[in-house]
Amino acid sequence: MSCILVEGGKRLAGEVEIQGAKNSVLPILAATLLSRDTCVLRGCPHLRDVEASLEILRSLGCGAQWREGCLAVDTAPMDRTEISDALMREMRSSAIFLGAILSRCGQATLSYPGGCELGPRPIDLHLSGLRQMGAEIEEEGGVLRCRAARLRGCDVVLSFPSVGATENLMIAACGAEGVTRIVNAAREPEIADLQGFLRACGAEVSGAGSDCVTVAGGRPLHGCTYEIMPDRIAAATYLCAAASAGGEVRLTRAREEHLSAVTAALREAGCVIESDGGGITCRCGGRLRAVSPVRTAPYPGFPTDAQALLMAALLRSRGTTVFEENIFTSRYRHVDELSRMGGVIRVSGRVAVVTGTERLRGSRVRSTDLRGGAALCVAALAAEGTSEIRGLHHIDRGYEDLARDLRLLGAEAVRTDSGENQHESG
Ligand code: EPU
Repeated sequence: MSCILVEGGKRLAGEVEIQGAKNSVLPILAATLLSRDTCVLRGCPHLRDVEASLEILRSLGCGAQWREGCLAVDTAPMDRTEISDALMREMRSSAIFLGAILSRCGQATLSYPGGCELGPRPIDLHLSGLRQMGAEIEEEGGVLRCRAARLRGCDVVLSFPSVGATENLMIAACGAEGVTRIVNAAREPEIADLQGFLRACGAEVSGAGSDCVTVAGGRPLHGCTYEIMPDRIAAATYLCAAASAGGEVRLTRAREEHLSAVTAALREAGCVIESDGGGITCRCGGRLRAVSPVRTAPYPGFPTDAQALLMAALLRSRGTTVFEENIFTSRYRHVDELSRMGGVIRVSGRVAVVTGTERLRGSRVRSTDLRGGAALCVAALAAEGTSEIRGLHHIDRGYEDLARDLRLLGAEAVRTDSGENQHESG
């Protein structure tokens, strides 16, 4: 059985380079379809979700290969417009391909992504935005059939700043006639990275990082070489690892300006965090303090993706911390597993209350989702004895090699593989 074994109770001391951002590279891979050319992505992380995106691109007729640490994607040969149900199920965020296929080919067929381990995953905002741009979309038996002889630019006002809808509409708008303005757009750094990529391909996009993104569509696009930004949630994971275990870690390439809500909470808990142009250093000694309520919110608020990680780091803090999850409906599934390790957490609806305890015990636990799985590793670093973390297929969606990175930071963490992960996917 594949698992990560963590021997807890060891202070960290080490350095790791932060991988490229998963949530940047996934929309950028979809956007490569617009250029009908070769795009080379530098710093592209080797992840299960990236492989799933490449499978989708290959199924559409495109070429993709890894060359000396870069990923080259050739979308010139694309000759299909349908994504199979099996590939859609591999990765729930595959709806991001809709805008790109529709924009390039005038039609797209894919199955509805359905629910995932975080709860329902509706794409109504994506679909209503595309409809406003002139797409005809029929939904039948879980299949979406979309057509648009020509998309038209317009103002789309999102009722919630959805990351995926903003990205889908930005990509679609590049191939539309006229100007599209996405109002109440998501402001996440990954949106700015997508804008950087689209501009490198020749698109006219502005405003990413603010709540209004403007795209002047119809420019001819070409291939490019683009460097993916560092993964802020991987960086948050290692900051929380240091907070949990104590010690000093250096995260090269990490950018504090992407992480200010997380570093503010960790500083309040007692960590000393310094950053410079090359990365972030985090020093933590002694027991942490509980912090003010942590409410997840769209960027620049506290990221939902770091909620489980900070919760794991605070299990041994002095005092009580209240968490409020406002983005996903089912994002406390890690709580039962953290409780097995001795964590004292009460959940009621969207609120979880963590009461710090002096000791955690190494346990056999199972990842419930990507960040929940990483949180189990964070907690295991502070637990007495050995923990065995299973369900690695979740963790592999977003971390190149979590056990390796934790070792580089000074932890005792090893991965044992039996090949069984292939059959575990859920
Ligand atoms: N929502 C709708 N309708 C829509 C779109 C979203 O109701 O049409 C709801 C969702 O159900 C959810 C909320 O709005 O409750 C936020 O969804 P959003 O669209 O902002 O998120 P996403 O694009 O589906 C991305 C990341 C997530 C991250 C969220 C929030 C990618 C590939 N995924 O998801 O990352 O948690 O933004 O920041 O970019 C992860 O890395 O593990 C992960 C889940």
